[in-house]
Amino acid sequence: MTRPTPEPLPAPLAGLVSSRRFERIVLFSGAGMSQDSGIPTFRSGDDGLWSAFDPQQLATPEAWRRDRALVWGWYEWRRGLVMAAHPHPGHVAAARLQRELGAAIVTQNVDDLHERAGATDVLHLHGSLFAPRCEACGKAAELPPPPPKTPRERLDPPRCARCQAHVRPGVVWFGESLDPAVVDEACRRIAACDLLVIVGTSGTVQPAAGLVGLAPEGAVIVEINPERSATASTLDFRWRSTAARALPTLADALVAAGAPG
Ligand code: OAD
Repeated sequence: MTRPTPEPLPAPLAGLVSSRRFERIVLFSGAGMSQDSGIPTFRSGDDGLWSAFDPQQLATPEAWRRDRALVWGWYEWRRGLVMAAHPHPGHVAAARLQRELGAAIVTQNVDDLHERAGATDVLHLHGSLFAPRCEACGKAAELPPPPPKTPRERLDPPRCARCQAHVRPGVVWFGESLDPAVVDEACRRIAACDLLVIVGTSGTVQPAAGLVGLAPEGAVIVEINPERSATASTLDFRWRSTAARALPTLADALVAAGAPG
């Protein structure tokens, strides 16, 4: 993959960022964050997953009960895609914001690209492809690297080492609840933020999408997305760019503004 050219900070955003020192930054990411690493989004572009696959057949508890091998094979295919991908400069910039300015990272993504870029504390609202667990007793399961599979290839899920029930993907499906501890922490960080950077989400899936509405009055809200999203009209700035091109420039400016002196 060629290295994306960083995009200069648009003047109004440069003005916003340089006018104050942000101390409680939250980066809220969605599938578009990983698109520059070659991971398909759900709803954008020609390869959006939900235009090729039916979420009702793959991402619900009913789908799992109906056909575990179909669902497991699809998630293992996705895990393989992620393992073959690499974090891009936007992931690296997000990790830098966390390391140097204490930014919280709240993501809807189930990949590990934020972590592989160096982020140490990522709130995964929708779980992780890398945290499979027993469907019955909840014991965490270890997995070998996924076999090379096509998305429609069925694969029997492994059995739990403790109780022999099936191991399920560690993601949140439609109709399931988000982990309350993760949601509480995400709410706490967003409700206290002074800068919210929303990257690569269509803003259509609740309750995750609604969390950005918790940003307090006075917080600056910036969106990085090449397309129109459903994100609330409370945005202070929409930057029509991509995560890989925009985030490094934004991080540079924030770190420079936040440096003592
Ligand atoms: P979507 O696929 O709904 O939206 C992706 C967004 O990323 C779109 O608004 C694109 O315009 C934008 N985008 C595309 N390329 C980009 C790039 N290079 N840089 C920045 N933005 C880019 O993904 P999410 O909003 O994350 O849930 O979807 C939310 C949830 O819906 C997912 O977590 C998943 C899905 O069903 C579950 O599976 C429970």
